[in-house]
Amino acid sequence: MHMPSIPMETAGFEPEIEKLIERIVTEIRRFAADSHRKTLRLVEIGTALTAERHTGRLLEKIVEEACAWTNADGGTLYLVDCAKTHLSFAIVINRSLNIRMGGSTGTIPWSPVALYNADGSPNRRNVSAYAALQQQVVNIADVYEAEGFDFAGTRTYDLQAGYRSKSMLVLPLLDHEGELIGVLQLVNAMDPETGEVVAFSGENQKICESLASLAGTALIQTRLINDLDRLLQAFIRSIGMAIDEKSSVTAGHVKRVTEWTMRIAKAIHDEPRGPFGDVRFSADEMKELQLAAWLHDLGKITTPNHIMDKSTRLEGVYDRIDLIRTRFEVLKRDVEIACWKQMAQSADEPLRSEAARSCDSRLNELSEELEFLSECNRKDRLSDADIERVREISQRTFLVNGVRKPILEPSEVENLSIRYGTLNPAERNIMNHHSEMTYKMLSELPFPKKLKQIPIFAAYHHERIDGHGYPRGVKGEEIPLQARIIALADIFEALTARDRPYKRSMTTEEALEILIQLGKNGHLDPELVAFFIEHRLYAAEGATVDDAPIERLDNQTAKDRLL
Ligand SMILES: [Fe+2]
Ligand SMILES: [Fe+2]
Repeated sequence: MHMPSIPMETAGFEPEIEKLIERIVTEIRRFAADSHRKTLRLVEIGTALTAERHTGRLLEKIVEEACAWTNADGGTLYLVDCAKTHLSFAIVINRSLNIRMGGSTGTIPWSPVALYNADGSPNRRNVSAYAALQQQVVNIADVYEAEGFDFAGTRTYDLQAGYRSKSMLVLPLLDHEGELIGVLQLVNAMDPETGEVVAFSGENQKICESLASLAGTALIQTRLINDLDRLLQAFIRSIGMAIDEKSSVTAGHVKRVTEWTMRIAKAIHDEPRGPFGDVRFSADEMKELQLAAWLHDLGKITTPNHIMDKSTRLEGVYDRIDLIRTRFEVLKRDVEIACWKQMAQSADEPLRSEAARSCDSRLNELSEELEFLSECNRKDRLSDADIERVREISQRTFLVNGVRKPILEPSEVENLSIRYGTLNPAERNIMNHHSEMTYKMLSELPFPKKLKQIPIFAAYHHERIDGHGYPRGVKGEEIPLQARIIALADIFEALTARDRPYKRSMTTEEALEILIQLGKNGHLDPELVAFFIEHRLYAAEGATVDDAPIERLDNQTAKDRLL
């Protein structure tokens, strides 16, 4: 670096004094340049440490930087446990032994260092425990000659590894409130010129103390960020599970949709060819999608249970088919009473027999009608003829307190005429409103930048490729791929779920046939459906469907039919 020149007014001095002054000035310049370089380096290290979000890599960086700064041969970083009773090995690095353990390379299976003895007294014999408990830096020139500490373990290790531990610098790592986080232990500072092991200099100790302070702050910052991240994820999963718990009819739906979503996303990420060949999801994007899947039905918190769980057409707070049964029972008894009256009033045997036959026939007719209504109440789809017959039956009346009443209320006729599913238009609107509510609720949350798409990904899972979905009616590419994936996972899960109490789950083959239809008719993304079938994602390991091969469904045929 460039240092300003210092004018030397040495004229008139003896030559020796002139030389001495010149040397002093040169030294001052060198010292200033060195200090400047070190300050800049320390700032760089501080910036690098605070930018690292991965705890393992951060720990590695701390040890590496400390070793580089002091030219130490090795470094160990311990972290204190939650109970603050033990120091666990987090990182072990030794350059000459070519050892690198812990951090991003995995955990270290060595026993932790106890901070307290069996009798509860502080463990001051172990140098790291001492530094941790006393919150003091320990600088030892030669551990084999050090007094007051027990280095038997170090000696044993040295013997086995063919190593000689000599100088050691041990520093406690503290957080911003002075609480212990861990201990940094450096071993064998080496003279950069001779390579000989030397003691850690006072200057290096000071710098390592600054480094330890930076490391402590960075570590706490990373921990807080990661803790918040974990808390947010756990909280979102809890919300998903609460939605699953709300309805016995769709229990486990959200969890399974999330599993399907991630399976599809991973397959897309891993596939370098085809229509999604360019799509890669970063770890953050994967997390964003996963949380969106957990939250996709969040709005159902506001959906009344009797609508969410409506398993038959007449079910409200209770199933009204029982009311209709009672009315039919009354009607039947009316028929029987009329018959008995007729028979009692008639002395003519043929007429009495005719009345009895007519009575049986009417009772059978009523039983059949009731059976028919009961079936209509449950079945998936109704034909035009079914709906017409419901209307005809609704013309019947029965007598209550001398007043004629219809056998079916208008709302019962409306519900029994629902062509597909169990929800009438008003209930369907309420049900569909859940995706709008998902958006409203999620857009109120201040998601961090990397998760900001969650409201859209979650709320658009009922949008259709042809624009006829809800809540926005957006179409094609306007629907993010992530939302299209959740939409596919949502439908496939609903089709194949095994815990619907009122209907059997479909076979994988039947469900795939429906997916193909939905891909063809503009409901789902056809390329995504083809990808799902082509990559056999329906039969993925650990899936909730049979892994049996889909014999009759040829992948190429599915693709041809879709694309
Ligand atoms: Fe939904
Ligand atoms: Fe759903």
